[in-house]
Amino acid sequence: MEFLSTSSFAPLVILVATAVSSIPITRRDVNEALAPPFGFSSGVNPTGTGDCDGAVKGTNGQPIKVPCSCPPDRTTFIQELNENVAAGHVINNPSVQISFPEDNSTASQLARINAAIVTLQNLNGTGKGCPVASTTFQAQETAINNAGAQAALSARQSALSPPLTPAQIEALAPRLGFTAGQNPSGTGNCDGAVNGADGQPVQVPCTCPPDQTTFDQFLIANVNAGHAVNNPSVAVSFPLDDSIASQLARIDAAIVTLQNFDGPGQGCPAASSTLLTQQAALLQQL
Ligand SMILES: *[C@@H]1O[C@H](CO)[C@@H](O)[C@H](O)[C@H]1NC(C)=O
Ligand SMILES: *[C@@H]1O[C@H](CO)[C@@H](O)[C@H](O)[C@H]1NC(C)=O
Repeated sequence: MEFLSTSSFAPLVILVATAVSSIPITRRDVNEALAPPFGFSSGVNPTGTGDCDGAVKGTNGQPIKVPCSCPPDRTTFIQELNENVAAGHVINNPSVQISFPEDNSTASQLARINAAIVTLQNLNGTGKGCPVASTTFQAQETAINNAGAQAALSARQSALSPPLTPAQIEALAPRLGFTAGQNPSGTGNCDGAVNGADGQPVQVPCTCPPDQTTFDQFLIANVNAGHAVNNPSVAVSFPLDDSIASQLARIDAAIVTLQNFDGPGQGCPAASSTLLTQQAALLQQL
């Protein structure tokens, strides 16, 4: 087939260009520089059975195993992220809403990490993708929360706000949502509140989580110190309003409290509670 000659094609191009420029832009690729880096490479230390080391360590101190194809090729991932962001939800898992705001607020940075995490987890189909442990996304999320908490604390201190009362904190303390001692394995581990990549409950110490009343007392101490008392470099803020960002900050304060109540990094894993599930639900509403 022959193409139209240049002379007969040119007016058509102008017409089309004019028409296009009057249509509002409804779809734009994400700013790739703002897409969180994986922070890790695929194919590390293969077991020979398709599993490789992930970016994070499990409770046994060893790297969590992930498929050797994870994290995926970056270009494939960015394409999928673009499509999901344009749709406003994860195309392979439509009930999961996402957004990709481009400003530097803590809430927007968390929304971007969340968009990256759910894109990763559903890359090949509903719930079929790469585990988040194949990347440093969760550590990045913690660092963003921490920086946000530190900023909020500085703002409070410079506004000379009075300390919160125990009753104010207890009233808004996130619920742990789970009880210790489920389905003991006989080796000190029990089921946690969330499932791992294999669809089975993750294992947590049978003493986790603590009961809510005990937990609330640690939370009160941390909130009024402005940091985890047992791990002072980890900032804690506890804003009292109902905004999603403030609810997220309170969940973060609870996670940090849970993870550090016995000492720096010593406490209960977040997965021994429903706090991560509550956090994910809030991130969807950003
Ligand atoms: C956001 O933060 C990054 C890194 O701190 C900085 O390079 C960038 O200029 C900031 N952007 C805005 C819009 O403030
Ligand atoms: C996703 O699909 C690609 C292409 O078929 C495949 O190479 C990759 O191993 C899959 N990843 C996972 C985690 O299922």
